[in-house]
Amino acid sequence: MTKTVIITGASQGIGKATALLFARQNYDVVLAARQFDRLEATAAEIRELGREAIAISTDVKDPVQVENLIDKAIAHFGHIDVLINNASIYTLGPVEEFTLTDWQEAIATNLWGYIHTINALLPHFLERRSGTIVNVSSIGGINPIPYQVPYSTTKYAVTGLTKALHAELSPKGIQVCGIYPSFIRTHLMERGIFRGEDEETAHARYELVDKALHSPVLEKPEDVAQAIWSAVKYQRSEVLVGTAKLWTAAFHLFPSLMKSISRRVFGMKERQ
Ligand SMILES: NC(=O)c1ccc[n+]([C@@H]2O[C@H](COP(=O)([O-])OP(=O)(O)OC[C@H]3O[C@@H](n4cnc5c(N)ncnc54)[C@H](OP(=O)(O)O)[C@@H]3O)[C@@H](O)[C@H]2O)c1
Repeated sequence: MTKTVIITGASQGIGKATALLFARQNYDVVLAARQFDRLEATAAEIRELGREAIAISTDVKDPVQVENLIDKAIAHFGHIDVLINNASIYTLGPVEEFTLTDWQEAIATNLWGYIHTINALLPHFLERRSGTIVNVSSIGGINPIPYQVPYSTTKYAVTGLTKALHAELSPKGIQVCGIYPSFIRTHLMERGIFRGEDEETAHARYELVDKALHSPVLEKPEDVAQAIWSAVKYQRSEVLVGTAKLWTAAFHLFPSLMKSISRRVFGMKERQ
């Protein structure tokens, strides 16, 4: 029987690269994100690879849309083997500049979005006594990086969610894995929330990280896709992708230095 994967945030970046890789590994794919035209373009690429793909426009913040995603996926393919929670947004700025609306947007997407899919799909996995849940976290979910507090809060929560789910569900035949990328060459900043003491500082902050994320020395979305594939194939409970190991070791060995460097880089004008 052909295996099936659901991927959120599959319209670009890591989600899209993962969808294409799973298709090359003979999976049928359910693609979810808000922008249907982008999803459909990826679905067309997957069909050209000889696999089946359906695109379902979904805002993961909305539990009703997520229920619809899971219902349609199961109705279409009959079964789901793997869920990859990946859709997220980034935040950067001094914590006092974020509004409650900014916090709510980050938590609704990055944490509730993951909970919505798990809640909707878990009965199917439990009934089959099989299934894999992959949650894409971040090095910001295992290391305290200043100036990205809402993002880090959600990613630490995803780390906790993942580890607790793993402890509970592995005896029931369900594999749970956390993926921890560092800085990856994607367009994550497109939907990011940037704040500063004024518009100019917020925009300078956006330009700083957007430029950094386009550096050719960074890892690619395909590297994270490969890490996700290995995690599913070899049933790993966590994978630190590439340089994430180095960053995490540096944060453990030199915590004050690393926090100080991050404050200098991300703090910009506000640090004085
Ligand atoms: N890039 C990095 O440096 C980096 C580092 C560490 C961890 N990560 C993690 O890797 C994952 C993927 O990031 P990426 O870099 O590939 O980002 P990306 O290029 O911005 O892709 C994010 C995807 O999420 C979707 N999305 C955003 N909000 C959504 C919502 N409310 N409902 C449904 N879909 C939504 C977007 O599509 P629509 O706008 O069409 O909905 C898009 O497909 C995220 O969890 C991120 O935190 C990235």
